Amino acid sequence: MPYPAPDGTELVEHLGAGATFDVALVRLGGPPRAPALVCKRLVPRVLHEHAGRAAMVREAKALSLARHPALPALARVGADRHGPFLLESRREGASLRDVLDGWRGRGRPPPASLVVHVLRAAIETLAELQELEDAGGPLGFVHGDLGPDHVLLGPLGDIGLVDLGAARFRGMDPDLETADRGTLPFVAPEIARGESPPTARGDVYAMAATLVAFATGAPLTRAREQAAMLVEIGESGLRLEALAAAEALSPGQRRALVRALDHDPARRVESARALLDAFDAAAPRG
Ligand SMILES: Nc1ncnc2c1ncn2[C@@H]1O[C@H](COP(=O)(O)OP(=O)(O)O)[C@@H](O)[C@H]1O
Ligand SMILES: [Mg+2]
Repeated sequence: MPYPAPDGTELVEHLGAGATFDVALVRLGGPPRAPALVCKRLVPRVLHEHAGRAAMVREAKALSLARHPALPALARVGADRHGPFLLESRREGASLRDVLDGWRGRGRPPPASLVVHVLRAAIETLAELQELEDAGGPLGFVHGDLGPDHVLLGPLGDIGLVDLGAARFRGMDPDLETADRGTLPFVAPEIARGESPPTARGDVYAMAATLVAFATGAPLTRAREQAAMLVEIGESGLRLEALAAAEALSPGQRRALVRALDHDPARRVESARALLDAFDAAAPRG
């Protein structure tokens, strides 16, 4: 069956299904040059599950609460005979996974200037999101599933973050708290083991892991499969040896990333802003 575009929209392109969402580009009827929107439906596996509904509600609430240029803007929430759906703005750009794969396909790593730009901009974006406030105070924004598929590099060098299905925020209905836990090897060990819900510190860890993978192009674990990854990370932590050869970064910048990836959450930097400050303080002068 073709992707069911909601009433009043037409299908532009089916982008594909992840673990939770089946995603397509659709266009609203009317003026032909209206920008396409991203439509998200639940994959059949979770369509009738509480976890699926909770992921969709978390994404919709997180996007309506946390307004920031790095995040998609929520356009519409609805339901039809195919189930609930969300319409949100499309973040332009390519995922860090695709950017890295693109350079690998050309037989070389991303240039040092790009690596430094992406790392700094991604950490700064996360810092801004962690500092979002409204009249009720800090939003307590947590993405919950940062990784190379969810951090996008836009055409102007801007960073976008997508997939808010695991997001957490201030005042979230406890009923929306489910066992969703990000994606190994990027998810912090205490969260992967279920000892902690997704946290801001966990986001800093996941962003640091994503950026080390981008800067080095090297795998973060020997294990390929999730259960084995969790065991390996529990025993020996992430493999960070390749970072020593990441010449785009100063030794102090590499140390700041390693500290954000400490196994013990109490020993990590406390926020993305603290990581950004450490990163900038260690920037090579030139
Ligand atoms: N607003 C958006 N703009 C651009 N691409 C998006 C957007 N939302 C999702 N995508 C793309 O669709 C993919 C799948 O969506 P995602 O929300 O990650 O679903 P899942 O939770 O099932 O992984 C993402 O990895 C991303 O490539
Ligand atoms: Mg995803």
